[in-house]
Amino acid sequence: MSNALADIELCVFDAYGTLFDFNSAVARHRGAIGPSADALSDLWRSKQIQYTWLRNGMGTYAEFWQVTGEALDHCLAVHGIADPEVRQRLMGAYLALDPFPEVPAMLETLRRAGKRLAILSNGNPAMLSPMVAASGLADRFEAVLSVDEAGVFKPDARVYRLVEARCGVRPDHVCFLSANCWDAHGAAHFGFRTVWVNRARAPDDGLPGKLAGQIGDLSVLPALLGVS
Ligand code: LAC
Repeated sequence: MSNALADIELCVFDAYGTLFDFNSAVARHRGAIGPSADALSDLWRSKQIQYTWLRNGMGTYAEFWQVTGEALDHCLAVHGIADPEVRQRLMGAYLALDPFPEVPAMLETLRRAGKRLAILSNGNPAMLSPMVAASGLADRFEAVLSVDEAGVFKPDARVYRLVEARCGVRPDHVCFLSANCWDAHGAAHFGFRTVWVNRARAPDDGLPGKLAGQIGDLSVLPALLGVS
């Protein structure tokens, strides 16, 4: 894999599920949700992403914050939770999701080595900015790019094009990292050197786009890039 990652100028990270743990929203309010908390969290994420694909297909882009709320409404209805306070708390938690445990040290190692770092996310700026700020990691990134600028969700190529437009780095000099297999394939198909962060040890989706490799979490990224 290391040869495939030679000449990398910029690491671009997906946000939700890759740097930040979307399950931490439900985990914080487990008591208010009850025994269906884990099932609700899984369905919420699954519906959230499905809705982005469906909106891409229909040409009806809306901010990820709205889509996240629409997905949550569906999940609360499925689980028979009608308390508006629960909805409000879960949406609020989405603005301060926990970074995965290995993320702060990994970013610090890359930053000390002079690597350029950015985020490219479906999230709209009003939800990304507070989350990145709350994590204390904002100064690690030269850019927090949002699909909102393209008016379409991943894996549309117009999203991945934002990286060269904003950071001035050609796709073949970008290492893209996503825990979402479909996003990783979309990014690889676009032309980024892409590493799938396969946190769930899931089988590959077998979509177009050749991955440069896969890792179990981000702690091994500095070594892959030849940084220690
Ligand atoms: C994102 C979603 C796909 O941050 O995780 O773009």
